[in-house]
Amino acid sequence: MHEKQRLAVFASGTGSNFVAIADAIDQGRLDAEIVLLVCDNSEAKVIGKARDRQIPVFVFQAKNYPSKVDYERDILQELNHCQAEWLILAGYMRLVGDTLLDPFEGRIVNIHPSLLPAFPGKDAIGQALSAGVKVTGVTVHFVDEGMDTGTIIDQEVIRIQPEDDQDTLQANIQEIEHRLFPKTIQALIQTEKREEIKS
Ligand code: GAR
Repeated sequence: MHEKQRLAVFASGTGSNFVAIADAIDQGRLDAEIVLLVCDNSEAKVIGKARDRQIPVFVFQAKNYPSKVDYERDILQELNHCQAEWLILAGYMRLVGDTLLDPFEGRIVNIHPSLLPAFPGKDAIGQALSAGVKVTGVTVHFVDEGMDTGTIIDQEVIRIQPEDDQDTLQANIQEIEHRLFPKTIQALIQTEKREEIKS
């Protein structure tokens, strides 16, 4: 195991969780380094945020590949090249296939803006508002082949206020995410280190 755990962050969009993880590392709250950003959208804002921090970026376009197996083989090559140890899905809007699940079993973690198993998939915040639930939250979970279905690692609850709309609820949820995700990743890394010392 490397001294600092080597994270590959996967993201498709804005990258506020990517920044939260990078900041936690810089501030010494997360004992890790980001060795690669994997992004499936060449227009995504997260790319600039990685480049600003001199973090290597692998951008791919799924439509340029015949299948998921083909693009995930290219991703795997990049992951091996930078010796990534954990795959951190931070707003990566694709299902992960066996090409990555098999070699990284138990080491792929996702964040989702609802209390899973409620409201999996896209626009979990809009789904919660439409359903009229009074509480929702954030889930961090291990990734399996399903849509937001893997074993839950941690969750945090938030009350939906009558005046909440998509924007206010999203802001409140993201505030939780930016705190919970780095904290949960750190706890996973520490647990693994303790287990390694014991064995
Ligand atoms: C986050 O809220 C994350 O929970 C969500 O995408 C957002 C990405 O924001 N992920 C999912 O919905 C996964 N099913 P960010 O790009 O600002 O980190």
